[in-house]
Amino acid sequence: MPSDKRLVIITGGTGGLGQALAALHLDMGDQVVITSRDEGKLKAVLAEKNCRDVHVYKLDVTDNAAVKAFCAWIHIRFGRCDILYNNAGTAVFKPFLDMSLDDISATLRTNLDGPIYMTRAFLPMMLSAGGGHIVNVASLAGKVATTKAAVYAASKAAVIRFSEGLRQELAGSKVYVTCVMPGPIDTPFLDRADAVGLYRQKVRRYLLSPAVTAKKIVRAVNARQPEVSMPFSLRLMSSLYMGLPQSIKRWMAPLINRK
Ligand SMILES: NC(=O)c1ccc[n+]([C@@H]2O[C@H](COP(=O)([O-])OP(=O)(O)OC[C@H]3O[C@@H](n4cnc5c(N)ncnc54)[C@H](OP(=O)(O)O)[C@@H]3O)[C@@H](O)[C@H]2O)c1
Repeated sequence: MPSDKRLVIITGGTGGLGQALAALHLDMGDQVVITSRDEGKLKAVLAEKNCRDVHVYKLDVTDNAAVKAFCAWIHIRFGRCDILYNNAGTAVFKPFLDMSLDDISATLRTNLDGPIYMTRAFLPMMLSAGGGHIVNVASLAGKVATTKAAVYAASKAAVIRFSEGLRQELAGSKVYVTCVMPGPIDTPFLDRADAVGLYRQKVRRYLLSPAVTAKKIVRAVNARQPEVSMPFSLRLMSSLYMGLPQSIKRWMAPLINRK
């Protein structure tokens, strides 16, 4: 029998932020579908949560055919998608010329193609159901780019603009778009992205906890906020920095480049 509970999809739901989002939505009484590429991690999540409202699906968001098959499965199995978190993401923090073409392609395909493929697949279902919410997890790096993150910043800047354009197109419908722009979060992402291992140390005083970040995101989604960014200190610094002339930005380079 179809459930009355909201259906929440979280790509990259085995990761630090995805798991925190899943925990909050389960507490709110929602059904959650978690995706990742790793069957082992998905089984571990299933065993850990041990709850009939948690479902898992193996999915590579860069594979458009797999995304379409996933959407068809959701349609048959649940017949709805109330909230879609485009959360799966990756980064390689290296000087641009040290990045392999595979690193570059994986970053752009996961962070940008992924949300675009997912949105293309799920938006028609939301529109025909008369409502839904798409949450794109970008980054403050999409506002202010720094060294060793040119490609990552480009992918997240594109997600911010994609969210803006989509929101304009969907104005007047009951499908909402929230773009999330966090600063550094204390998840395995940082260790994978930064092989040198100094970034986590250098940004330690700004590090967000996944649980607090997820709480702020869910609050913004519930309030249908178009954008949410955190922490306050970095949000403020980013906004001030963006308005500065290039000459002052050059002078500030040692302050903002921490990788
Ligand atoms: N941590 C930070 O400092 C930070 C800051 C700002 C924004 N963000 C953004 O927040 C989001 C979540 O990051 P996190 O910190 O939770 O990272 P995380 O712990 O590394 O988790 C990333 C998740 O994405 C999944 N994933 C990666 N590539 C995928 C692909 N091609 N297809 C499907 N799933 C894929 C991973 O699962 P599998 O590898 O098993 O597939 C994992 O579940 C990302 O979009 C990230 O860019 C993170």
